[in-house]
Amino acid sequence: MITDPALVTGAAGFIGSHTAESLLRRGTPVVGIDNLDPYYDVAIKRRNVREIESTSQQAGVKFTMIEGDICNYQLMQEVVTTHGIQAIVHLAAKAGVRRSLEDPLGYARTNIEGTINLLEAARRANIERFGFASSSSVYGDATQVPFSEDQPVTMPISPYAASKVAAETYCYAYHSLYELPVVCLRLFTVYGPRQRPDLAINRFVRFILADQPIPKYGDGTSIRDYTYIGDIVRGILAALDSDINWDIINLGSDNPITLNELIAAVEEVLGKPATIDQLPQQPGDMRQTHADIGKARRLLNWQPKVSLHHGLQEFVNWWQSAS
Ligand SMILES: NC(=O)c1ccc[n+]([C@@H]2O[C@H](COP(=O)([O-])OP(=O)(O)OC[C@H]3O[C@@H](n4cnc5c(N)ncnc54)[C@H](O)[C@@H]3O)[C@@H](O)[C@H]2O)c1
Repeated sequence: MITDPALVTGAAGFIGSHTAESLLRRGTPVVGIDNLDPYYDVAIKRRNVREIESTSQQAGVKFTMIEGDICNYQLMQEVVTTHGIQAIVHLAAKAGVRRSLEDPLGYARTNIEGTINLLEAARRANIERFGFASSSSVYGDATQVPFSEDQPVTMPISPYAASKVAAETYCYAYHSLYELPVVCLRLFTVYGPRQRPDLAINRFVRFILADQPIPKYGDGTSIRDYTYIGDIVRGILAALDSDINWDIINLGSDNPITLNELIAAVEEVLGKPATIDQLPQQPGDMRQTHADIGKARRLLNWQPKVSLHHGLQEFVNWWQSAS
């Protein structure tokens, strides 16, 4: 287990804040970095940071938050060396498919250049482990399901997906050149408390509770492998603790459902029907995602535990207590 400080990039975000807290709870000191990108309400990110700070106090384990940009090469070198970082969980990114069509260069800068800066800092400091958050979006419109890690990913269908493919290839280059131990985790639609407000479950719950119509893109037959945040964080920590030198591993629920089924599940948990605002299918959106998680089972002894119904209930509980 990593006991020296771990650097969590994107610590103020959804997955980053949960990852930082889990590391602190088990006794690993954490340095978090985040530029509080205004992609969504910065007040949400500040609240996430306060939650991490309170977990740090309860656990009696040190947490240092740095407000800064991963595109700042000098800063990344300094952070890694001055804090004696031995592991990096790289989650900072411009996330979200749809916005990437409007800002492809911004996505490339943060998601590719930012990743290279961290890989450079990591290899110069000879760190023990680098975990990178990739995405199911790298599979594009592949029709072979479930998606397995050895499928080609040369046909991403959005600038966001292309930036994740590129970042994965840099991860491999740094592993190959410098023997940097790297695990790329392809995350499949993550949900749960603190989920990003632009994502479907968060929007559906908020809009239904506020008696507003929910935006439904396409005919509802698109398929997603929704994965609970607690399961994802366990997978990230398992990768961090493993002795894998290089690999790419899917983390998904292996329980894909259609958009129509998701809406029905949210209605059931809320005990309230949705009004639908029917919208066209969005360019860049994938038709389906479904993770083959055999490799995660084998290499990380990992498997998802939380059912969609339970996970949705956890999200609703959180939303009601936070608002
Ligand atoms: N949420 C999902 O369903 C999902 C699925 C697949 C992959 N991922 C990946 O997981 C990671 C975390 O996603 P999330 O849902 O928590 O998103 P998020 O937007 O909540 O978190 C990302 C954080 O990165 C920060 N950030 C952005 N640009 C930065 C920069 N230049 N310097 C420093 N910080 C910066 C943001 O301010 C944000 O707090 C991302 O890499 C994302 O691509 C997420």
